[in-house]
Amino acid sequence: MVFYIAKNIRAFFKHAIPLSATCSHSARSICSTPTDNSNSPNLEFSPECDEAMRQMLVKDFQIHKDFINVEEENNLLEELELKFKRSRYQYDHWDDAIHGYRETEKPTWNKENDCVINRLRNFAFSTTTMQHVHVLDLAENGHIKPHLDSIKFCGNTISGISLLTDSVMRLIHIQRPQVFVTALLPRRSLYIMKDSARYEFNHEILNNSESFFRGEQVTKTRRISVICRSPPPPPPTS
Ligand code: OGA
Ligand code: MN
Repeated sequence: MVFYIAKNIRAFFKHAIPLSATCSHSARSICSTPTDNSNSPNLEFSPECDEAMRQMLVKDFQIHKDFINVEEENNLLEELELKFKRSRYQYDHWDDAIHGYRETEKPTWNKENDCVINRLRNFAFSTTTMQHVHVLDLAENGHIKPHLDSIKFCGNTISGISLLTDSVMRLIHIQRPQVFVTALLPRRSLYIMKDSARYEFNHEILNNSESFFRGEQVTKTRRISVICRSPPPPPPTS
């Protein structure tokens, strides 16, 4: 049953886009950052990312530190551990967007956690969100490859809380892969990815071997993300 659900979520949300073989984003390919990082301390832009693009990304890819406190993180984890108790991590196909994960869609939460989920919804979305919250549990050796969430099944905003560990997310421009931004997602932070960041860039969570931010290694342990999405726009009426 769990296997069936997991496969289903993948089919709905994911559209894996392999990077071109000519473009490698190792830690070494990240060069110096803009002189002024004060606006975006958690973002590191590639040199090819021009000022206009940087400003757009700062607007469309936000990271809010300490969105939840330690107690709220523990409450979420307690409820989620029960949910995951009997499912195994999947180390599937080479072409899957995610490696080393288990996941679920959660329609309801206990009272305390519901409060946190509603705070996320009110803070990150100007419109409604899908009722089900997507929870992704990534093993320590797991990672998410570059992909775009399906435009058919997900609207213009994706927002997630990171539990258990710091991690590094990278957004790579689909048309010009040399334009990318590397983001430090601290434990208990919230990210909001919308509009240009959501549609013009692939996103990925880096494997520990590539997980660097401003030259420092960021060691990801097990990571759970709690993700809300806006619904896709209704199909045009004829
Ligand atoms: C996804 C995804 C990011 C995260 O499930 O499509 O990109 O924060 N997740 O786990
Ligand atoms: Mn995604």
